[in-house]
Amino acid sequence: MNAHDAIPSSVSEYDDDAIVNFSHNPHMDSVLALRLSRRGALKGSVAVAAASLLGGAGLSGCGGDSDSGNNPTDAATPAKELNFQSIAKTQADQITIAEGYQISILHALGDPMHWGDASWQDDGSETPESYQRRIGCGHDGMYYFGLSDDGRFDANRSDRGLLCVNHEYVVAPYGLHPTGRTVTDGKRPASEVDKEIFAHGASVVEIKRKRGSSDMEMVRGSPYNRRVHSATEMAFGGPAAGHAKLVNKLSPDGTRAFGMNNNCACGYTPWGTYLTCEENYLNVIGRAAGDDARRSAAEITALKRYGLPAGRKNPYGWDSPEGEQYQRWNSRVSAASAELDHRNSFNTFGWVVEIDPFRPDSMPVKRTALGRFNHEGAWPAPAVAGQPIVLYSGDDARGEYIFKYVSDALWDPADINGGTAAGAKYLDKGRLFVAQFRADGSGQWLELTHGQNGLDASCPLYPFADQGDVVMHCRLAADFVGATKMDRPEWGGVNPLNGEVYMTLTNNSKRTAQTLDAANPRVGNANGHIIRWRELGGQAGTQFVWDVFLFGARADGKQSENLSGLSDANDFSSPDGLYFDQRTQGAGGLLWIQTDDSAYTDVTNCMMLAAIPGHVGDGGAVRTQEGQATHMGAQPSQANVRRFLVGPVDCEITGVVVTPDGKTLFFNVQHPGEDKGDFATNTFTSHWPGNQAPASDSAHHGHKRPRSATVAVTRKDGGTIGV
Ligand code: FEO
Ligand code: CA
Ligand code: CA
Ligand code: CA
Repeated sequence: MNAHDAIPSSVSEYDDDAIVNFSHNPHMDSVLALRLSRRGALKGSVAVAAASLLGGAGLSGCGGDSDSGNNPTDAATPAKELNFQSIAKTQADQITIAEGYQISILHALGDPMHWGDASWQDDGSETPESYQRRIGCGHDGMYYFGLSDDGRFDANRSDRGLLCVNHEYVVAPYGLHPTGRTVTDGKRPASEVDKEIFAHGASVVEIKRKRGSSDMEMVRGSPYNRRVHSATEMAFGGPAAGHAKLVNKLSPDGTRAFGMNNNCACGYTPWGTYLTCEENYLNVIGRAAGDDARRSAAEITALKRYGLPAGRKNPYGWDSPEGEQYQRWNSRVSAASAELDHRNSFNTFGWVVEIDPFRPDSMPVKRTALGRFNHEGAWPAPAVAGQPIVLYSGDDARGEYIFKYVSDALWDPADINGGTAAGAKYLDKGRLFVAQFRADGSGQWLELTHGQNGLDASCPLYPFADQGDVVMHCRLAADFVGATKMDRPEWGGVNPLNGEVYMTLTNNSKRTAQTLDAANPRVGNANGHIIRWRELGGQAGTQFVWDVFLFGARADGKQSENLSGLSDANDFSSPDGLYFDQRTQGAGGLLWIQTDDSAYTDVTNCMMLAAIPGHVGDGGAVRTQEGQATHMGAQPSQANVRRFLVGPVDCEITGVVVTPDGKTLFFNVQHPGEDKGDFATNTFTSHWPGNQAPASDSAHHGHKRPRSATVAVTRKDGGTIGV
């Protein structure tokens, strides 16, 4: 490899320690003083609940009742007991899973989805072109949709479905190329860039149960099998569609995008579409030095706030091959007007993309009303007829925010199977909010609507021209209204039992003593925490109460303080994936937690745990060793938080979904062996999945190169997973 310093030879998930949020938002204490002075204006339940938390009295008895107006899934019955024993931490290069369970590989990087392409050769010889029909790289967010005999979404079907999987990014050691990534004289070969463009995005595959088993396999050649990647044409919907700041050479009217990038986590809709979210799209975009001279002051403000200062190199070097088609990966002014160059290409990324898996020819749509940022995912509250659709999102970067979207349209179950037409109804018109967590355990959703809260052309931070501008630059809007800077929001989920919302805050090395607040109360936060809140006044309400469900920590006492009292059997670090089991019978409230960690990897590989949580307010007030007061849920026990599996070396465990009958669970292994390795001897830090797949699995057995993959979990006795 001819590494050149202009392009790093190894690019991990974009995580360069940069903080781009330099806003002077009020810290919690001053916010609290402000809000307390208005306490008299707070009505009934907010003031009572907040006062209750302030006194540490908790909210016993409020966990599942209806005084909040929440409408949890009526049929859900609670999970009572986990049906497995915790496994030990391990650094074995394989998936180690609880007794009584077994795994199989559903698909891995490079597997052909259709007939006619050869299976993985383990030497990088697959053509770039063929990656339009192969499973992509960097498996991440994922969702299962039951598929009926007549090709429609059936939420109750478990033996046949469509599995949507994100392919977040092309991962070191870049085993999809013959000898890893190459950079020659500062340039990437076009053939490698093309392969990477096609290996990003998402896959949709039909899966079905194997005969006489709960295990599932991909249906190769299914007409539903489809790749959406970084060159797929897609439409814009919502307030930014057709906006002047989306106009570019490939779409002079600003209504089309070409490709989606770095799709991390996900979401799903009750009408049966998949939501896939663009997170670290800064991986694939650069901006020329000197470009500021050709930009307005407002543009420069926006570009910096979103992490793209002039002169920033494209980390993947996608803008380096010769040829017009690569120029769009550098967002620079190079012609007289926006429709003649790619100055706005950067603005076409960072959105939530809706894909209809049931209509393979349908065009994906970027739903701009949900905002533009490092979108981790978009998690729905249970849909209730006659109520708005509500989605939660996190912006995964240090000191960024938590968002909520509330549709204008009210849910009508007749829209099930409505595809992206239903998406336009519910996802293009609505209100975007950002969270402010107060020290007293209450919180508020601040509305990001043009013309309200000072978000207009006279805003001193940034001149918002219209609602399209607000959603495109909602980080700046959130700065202005005083949102709370969080410790890297990752996955969220809504407890179907009681409507409470959980979100992982994975870690934040840059959280200092000066910037501590009650919701982010640990300096350096090496091991992360999981925050949760309970909406007041219904899921669409603007007030909530919160506490910290769990603080990640090492049981050995190194790094972060072990406030939740985790033991060797359930300690974890850097929570990332999070998923409330959607089964209703006896599994209500069953929570899956996954880690993407580098702080505990001297002891264990990344892992997945199961939890049966209580509710907001079941613990009380605590103070961290740094002296920061906060609110924490009841400490877990061995009974209600257990380690279910541990992944192979240098991987992240992510993406989790369970079939409606609870008999098959899918999860993803991302970037096993995330290191350079040695292609001359085919030696890498991990050889998974080739070292674990049995000989009967010829598509994966015996291969040396590590590959991201989807894994199916079943119980050996055919029973249900987890509970
Ligand atoms: Fe791609 Fe925030 O994880
Ligand atoms: Ca990742
Ligand atoms: Ca993640
Ligand atoms: Ca992560």
